[in-house]
Amino acid sequence: MSNIESVLTEKRVFPPDPAFVAKARFNADQLGALRAEAAQDPAAFWTELARKELGWQTPFTVGLDETDAPNYRWFSDGKLNVSANCIDRHLGERGDQVAIRFEGEKGDVRLLTYKELHAEVCKLANALTALGVTKGDRVVIYLPHSAEAVIAMQACARIGAIHSVVFGGFSAAALRDRIEDTGARLLITADGGHRGGNIVELKKAADEALASGCKTIEKSIVLQRTGHDIAMQAGRDLWWHDVVADQPPHSDPVWVEAEHPLFLLYTSGSTGKPKGIQHSSGGYLLGAMMTARWVFDLQAGDVFWCTADVGWITGHSYVTYGPLANGSTILIYEGAPTVPDAGRFWKICQDHGVTIFYTAPTAIRALMKAGDEWPAQYDLSKLRLLGSVGEPINPEAWMWYHRTIGGEKLPIVDTWWQTETGAIMMSPVPGATPTKPGSCTQPLPGILADVVDEAGNPVTGTEAGGYLVITHPWPSMLRSIWGDNERYIKTYWGQFNNKYYVAGDSTHRDADGYYWIMGRVDDVLNVSGHRLGTMEVESALVSHPRVAEAAVVGRPHEVKGESVFAFVTCKGARPQGDDATALVKELRDHVAKEIGAIAKPDDIRFADNLPKTRSGKIMRRLLRAIAKGEEITQDTSTLENPGIVAQLQGREG
Ligand code: WT7
Repeated sequence: MSNIESVLTEKRVFPPDPAFVAKARFNADQLGALRAEAAQDPAAFWTELARKELGWQTPFTVGLDETDAPNYRWFSDGKLNVSANCIDRHLGERGDQVAIRFEGEKGDVRLLTYKELHAEVCKLANALTALGVTKGDRVVIYLPHSAEAVIAMQACARIGAIHSVVFGGFSAAALRDRIEDTGARLLITADGGHRGGNIVELKKAADEALASGCKTIEKSIVLQRTGHDIAMQAGRDLWWHDVVADQPPHSDPVWVEAEHPLFLLYTSGSTGKPKGIQHSSGGYLLGAMMTARWVFDLQAGDVFWCTADVGWITGHSYVTYGPLANGSTILIYEGAPTVPDAGRFWKICQDHGVTIFYTAPTAIRALMKAGDEWPAQYDLSKLRLLGSVGEPINPEAWMWYHRTIGGEKLPIVDTWWQTETGAIMMSPVPGATPTKPGSCTQPLPGILADVVDEAGNPVTGTEAGGYLVITHPWPSMLRSIWGDNERYIKTYWGQFNNKYYVAGDSTHRDADGYYWIMGRVDDVLNVSGHRLGTMEVESALVSHPRVAEAAVVGRPHEVKGESVFAFVTCKGARPQGDDATALVKELRDHVAKEIGAIAKPDDIRFADNLPKTRSGKIMRRLLRAIAKGEEITQDTSTLENPGIVAQLQGREG
């Protein structure tokens, strides 16, 4: 592992714009001081913040409890309520400020002030209590991306019920598996949602899931969103508007221990069934809240748009919990970025006066591919900060974001973190950190990271890469895998004897101490004894003017161990015939020029798009199987476009 080679040579550095620095919460000196203080004693640093920044019903006396390491506990003898921390405490100072700006795909807009949000959350919390849901019960939420999804999460938090949000794009079978793993008593769903000009049949999928198992579910609450015809099962299904109709708009929060699970969120590992990542109440909220403030520089008047669906961790930490705990205004958009056209995101930014825009590289590349004429039609002058999350951002896409959306001025925060970390771990702090395209820069205050080799020894040379590890516990870390603590310990701590949290990513650190995430450890290629991060080859490909997106996997090779196999989408039409042959040669030469002959793809296949999960992650396992010419046995039903498989196999067109 110590010989993972970093072949990406990105030398550009962008210091923060002085105009931004002048108004920022943190400049370089302030960040430096905070980081130094935190590094001396991270537990004391977080403990102090927890005391100062969170509202406690019973103050805690214990900061970090390491008794059962690596099952760490934080603030464990304190009691609080997450919903009271996100909503109630803002009622005095900013009760009439808009908390949520919602826009549906069809253009319907709804604004909710903090007071209104409070009333809606209380009504639903009371309804849940009336249905017998109590502290510790699990509630599965399967809703469109909507204000109601946030209300449902907050209502659960208010009564100490543990929510598990299942992304609305997941199938009935996936929903069933998650419900069964949580043992939930109640399901909150909707008749449907609007996406891509269609109705997402959530209730239909929920019915199918419940018909095929889920014996623990007693009731389901159904939000009327689309108004189209659906089946309601008497005795089981209740309309949301009916259950809240007679509930009072206030409810006393149920105080829970800081370690009480706030939610479970399922995420897939490289093997086995999805893991129910278990997060805490106090530590999680502190992490989401502080990182939202540091990274997004949240200030009065900001309109913060994190485009992630509530079904993902990003939608938990940076739609629902972090920004609300800071008293910010969030934007929620229900639908697809291309409805009615590729200008929709920019139109929303203009219409709602979005100041902070946080999205994923896959979206950035799609928007880039759509062309500069779309953002050009809208007034984006309110934007002051841009963010990225989910995968390494190719320098090419970073530069487009910087130039075309950021007008070469706005800071870009490339935030590295995971479902398991609960909150952002590494990121620029926008008024303080010079950025480099493709690097998530440095750990945030109170986060201690390192790069280690196969034996767990810190890697010292700046050319060498290794495993990314976190060397000190942090408050928003996952607490366990629901129902399988052994798997928790084995997956995240086992590799180095419970000494480090192992993120499963490979990385390298440059001479300035900046981290460059190279991808998941299992995505690393070994070509002729040289290990290459797939992302670096992809970035090289994408830097070619004709390439829109690229995914690279390893293919077993007799002589080299592995060869590079690239799947490529082009700007404009998919190349065919002689054009394709010529472009393959050109791209091979291009990669050789950008990185070196070692990284030259042996195979390049063109497709109209790449196989992605509904969350926008490229399905590398599927691509690896295709590259090997294997029969496709895995489930392709979660693909955004299942028809693409034949094309990737080279069997069509
Ligand atoms: C994995 C976690 C965290 C929210 C969304 C994804 C990759 C995430 C970055 C980034 C490079 C990144 C890592 C990580 N990743 N952000 N800024 N740069 N890689 O959550 O599904 O739990 O995935 O996403 O590989 O381990 P997730």
